[in-house]
Amino acid sequence: MADLILTGASRGIGHALALALAERRGDRLVLVARDRTSLDALVTGIEQKGGHAVAVPGDLSSLDGARELGKRLVDAVTPGATLIHNAGLWPAKRVLTPEGLETAFVINHLAPLVMQRALLDAEHLRRIMVVSAGLIVKARFDAARTPTGKDFSSIRTYCNTKLCFALAMRDIAAAYPAIDVVVLHPGVVRTDLGARSGLLGWLLSRVKRSWEAPEVCAARLARTLARERWSPPGEARWLMEETEQPWPAVAEDEATRRAVRDTTARLLS
Ligand SMILES: NC(=O)c1ccc[n+]([C@@H]2O[C@H](COP(=O)([O-])OP(=O)(O)OC[C@H]3O[C@@H](n4cnc5c(N)ncnc54)[C@H](OP(=O)(O)O)[C@@H]3O)[C@@H](O)[C@H]2O)c1
Repeated sequence: MADLILTGASRGIGHALALALAERRGDRLVLVARDRTSLDALVTGIEQKGGHAVAVPGDLSSLDGARELGKRLVDAVTPGATLIHNAGLWPAKRVLTPEGLETAFVINHLAPLVMQRALLDAEHLRRIMVVSAGLIVKARFDAARTPTGKDFSSIRTYCNTKLCFALAMRDIAAAYPAIDVVVLHPGVVRTDLGARSGLLGWLLSRVKRSWEAPEVCAARLARTLARERWSPPGEARWLMEETEQPWPAVAEDEATRRAVRDTTARLLS
C-alpha cells in the first residue's frame, strides 16, 4: 500500500479530495493540517468508506513548525509516497511569522519546501502534485520586499507566493528527475479561501455561490492523480485544471526565476 500525503486536508479542496480518494484501496492517506479535530473526523469518515488514513497534524506558519512536521512525516510514511501540496493561505492583511517573514510567503512557499526537504532527504517521494493557482499570471515578485510583505496587497501577495512555490518546484523537478512533479490550477472552487468578515465577506460569499463545489474539483484532481505519469523526467508540467498548457510567461521569465531561486536559498540557508 502506497502513502499519499495530503496537506490542507481539514477543509475545502483537500477535505473533498481525501473523501474522493477514500475508495482507492491501494493508498493510505496521510492527512496534514492544523485542525486535529477535523482530521480525526476525516480519518473516521474515510475508514467508514473502507479506506485507510492517518492524521499527522502540523503547522506551516513557521519554518520551525514545518521542519518538525517534515520529520514526523518521514517517520509516518514509507518510500514510494505521493505528496500533494494543497495547504494554502489567501492573506487578508500583512502578518509576520516568528522569523519576521510575511505569513503567506511562509505558508504558500517556504514552509512546504522545508517540510518536503526531510522527505526528499529520506528518499521517500515518488510523485509530487502542487495545487497552485492560475492567478500566478498576476504575480510581480520583488526579492527585496515580497518575503517580508513590504509590498503587501492581499491579491498580489497571494499571486506572488503561489508563483514562488511553482518556480521552486520546477527547480525541484530538475534536481530530482526520478520524481514525477506536476503543478496545477485546481479550478475556481467554493471554499473558505480568502474569506473575509463584514460587508466584503458577505459580498464574497454571494459571488462564491456560482463557483464549483469542492467535490467537483476533487473528482478532477483524483482523475489527474490516476494518470500513469504527469511530466517528463526533470520537468514539471503546468496544468489548467486537467489540461496541460505552456507555463505562463511570468513563470518562464529567467530574471524572476533567478530572483526566486536566490532569495529562497538565502532565506533557507
Ligand atoms: N478555492 C479556489 O478557488 C482555489 C483556486 C486556485 C487555487 N487554490 C488553491 O487550492 C488550495 C486549497 O485551497 P482551498 O480553497 O481548499 O482553501 P481552504 O478551504 O481555505 O483550505 C485551506 C487548507 O490549508 C490548511 N492550512 C492553512 N493554513 C495552514 C497552516 N498554517 N498550516 C497547515 N495547514 C494550513 C487549512 O487547514 P487548517 O486551517 O486546519 O490548518 C485548510 O485545510 C490552496 O493551495 C489554494 O491556493 C484554490
